[in-house]
Amino acid sequence: MNKTTQTYPIGSVQDFLLQIGRVVIAGNVELAVFRTSDGAIYALENRSPHPKGGPLAEGIVSGHFLYDPLYDWKIDLRTGEVQAPDQGIVMTYPVSLVGDIVTVSL
Ligand code: FES
Repeated sequence: MNKTTQTYPIGSVQDFLLQIGRVVIAGNVELAVFRTSDGAIYALENRSPHPKGGPLAEGIVSGHFLYDPLYDWKIDLRTGEVQAPDQGIVMTYPVSLVGDIVTVSL
């Protein structure tokens, strides 16, 4: 069965405060959405790949990295890759702007 991509509007740009994670539900996926200081917006699955899990939206944003204070992990918001020496990957989803409406494709 083919999975088709769906695009969901998730709010306007102003809804996403700079460097503050926001939880958004799109389809049946819970996302952690971040707007970095350069204005870029990233959507990741709101679940840490750490074996103990946990929500990513509460992480601390610096540049295009997310610092997870719970496990002291660093995650690249652009790729979802956990940075060495830790290992893991977070699902990331493409974000677009239509006017000032933010959309995410799942
Ligand atoms: S589990 Fe919450 S920021 Fe990492």
